Amino acid sequence: GEVHRSVQELAASLGALPPEFVRPEHEQPAATTFPGGAAPDAPVIDLSEPRCGARVAAAAREWGLFQVVNHGVPSPVVAELQRVGRAFFSLPREEKDRYAMDPASGRIEGYGTRLQRDLEGKKTWNDFFFHVVAPPEKVDHGAWPRSPAGYREANEAYCCHVQRLARELLGHLSLGLGLEEGAMAEAFGGGDLVFLQKINLYPPCPQPELTLGVAPHTDMSTLTVLVPNEVQGLQVFKDGHWYDAKYVPDALIIHIGDQIEIFSNGAYKAVLHRTTVSKEKTRMSWPVFVEPPGELVVGPHPQLVSGESPAKYKARKYKEYQHCKINKLPM
Ligand code: SIN
Ligand code: FE2
Repeated sequence: GEVHRSVQELAASLGALPPEFVRPEHEQPAATTFPGGAAPDAPVIDLSEPRCGARVAAAAREWGLFQVVNHGVPSPVVAELQRVGRAFFSLPREEKDRYAMDPASGRIEGYGTRLQRDLEGKKTWNDFFFHVVAPPEKVDHGAWPRSPAGYREANEAYCCHVQRLARELLGHLSLGLGLEEGAMAEAFGGGDLVFLQKINLYPPCPQPELTLGVAPHTDMSTLTVLVPNEVQGLQVFKDGHWYDAKYVPDALIIHIGDQIEIFSNGAYKAVLHRTTVSKEKTRMSWPVFVEPPGELVVGPHPQLVSGESPAKYKARKYKEYQHCKINKLPM
């Protein structure tokens, strides 16, 4: 079998990009990114403005992705989340490996790499860490990094703010559909909403123009709240083109995921996105996936389904949805 190595380790030893990382031409960023300058930007929304709710709803309809500023998450809390994440990835290989995830044996939390080939036999330039942060009864602290000191406190503090922000955004999105403010939060599980923290590491890459950090996908979640570092790399697909999501200091990036598209019966759009990597710099990102509990059935809201607009999606348990998507079964 193949020796298991992280992308981080591989990056340190390489001159040229190994062929398994070369994406097919229709995916290569150099060939498929809309040229800067004239490119439209995904909306940047100031959440302290009185009319921000309508902008959130419009952005979810048109882009499925937007950035928020004045979001109420204090910058020292975000800076500390980033510090402990960077410190974890700076640990020696052996130490990180103690947290290795192993989906085959059911350990889906922990340290991992995409060095496994995807269905097309290709790889992406990314290592990651992944664990549940809320609710408390679903958290396994045994899977969290024990080093650096402060890791747990930093992640818990950030999570509290993300919980508050997610509710606020779900409220705006519910009102934007003509529903009660609490409709979406409730439909997605209320206090049982699951928050998954991921840390993405994209080491410097010898030929970034030929590969991707993550391949194009939509998130399965309700929504995703993402902290980027200053190395731009997220790209959004809209109207047939790939656009860079520009780096906005102190902004959080919000992705509309599949569950909101389903609940809204297609009014809001799950955003297709991918990431590019850099030749000199390490890109990192800290997405939190906000998910319904696995047993919960999610489907189009009854008020959004009618004779003229029939249900476009099946109602089903979130865990069944995940299973179908991960295994590429018919939706
Ligand atoms: C992802 O979609 O999984 C990562 C997005 C990012 O790193 O910006
Ligand atoms: Fe994603």
